[in-house]
Amino acid sequence: MNYENDIAKVLVSEEEIRGAVKRIAKQMEQDYKNSDKKVLIMGTLKGAVVFMSDLMKEFNLRAEIDFIKVSSYGSGTESGGVISLKANPDYEDLSNFNVIVIEDILDTGNTLSWLLDHLKNKMNAHSVKLCALFNKPDRRVKDVHIDYQGFIIPDEFIVGYGLDYNEEYRNLPYVGVLKPEVYNINK
Ligand code: IMP
Ligand code: MG
Repeated sequence: MNYENDIAKVLVSEEEIRGAVKRIAKQMEQDYKNSDKKVLIMGTLKGAVVFMSDLMKEFNLRAEIDFIKVSSYGSGTESGGVISLKANPDYEDLSNFNVIVIEDILDTGNTLSWLLDHLKNKMNAHSVKLCALFNKPDRRVKDVHIDYQGFIIPDEFIVGYGLDYNEEYRNLPYVGVLKPEVYNINK
């Protein structure tokens, strides 16, 4: 069983993603090259893992990496309400770091506005910037500033390159839109 038959269309190809990853990494290098604080590349589990591993290889400055897990949707395609941390960073105090949060997609902004505030105000990060590969502005509920952005996309549910539907499709190397019948099977 493979995933190709479930995909209605490819929205962003592997090559387009590669281009965006390089562009973002270069922009980050410019922004941090003169800082005396180390960069902490902070990936959000699980969706940002694929993007983060490609991005960090292109980022040519001193850096550490870590992961954070914020409570997510559960299954289905709509955002849930309550937010909590399911996995914490190794450091409790981030005042020695310029933190770059790596996110797969900014949707309603509920998760990220909470997380950015938490890193700044509870964990005392020296600075916090947000990098999101995808941005769905039509869905925004909370105002969140994106410092590094890959692609602006329409209000469609996408999978692949880390993004899931019911925890599947994360290992597709490109980003696609699912056929409607795939959702219906799971209803
Ligand atoms: P937000 O708090 O609504 O911005 O939620 C963002 C999170 O929702 C992302 O990190 C994804 O895990 C998930 N999400 C939002 N839109 C999509 C999508 O189109 N495909 C897969 N996951 C999505
Ligand atoms: Mg996510």
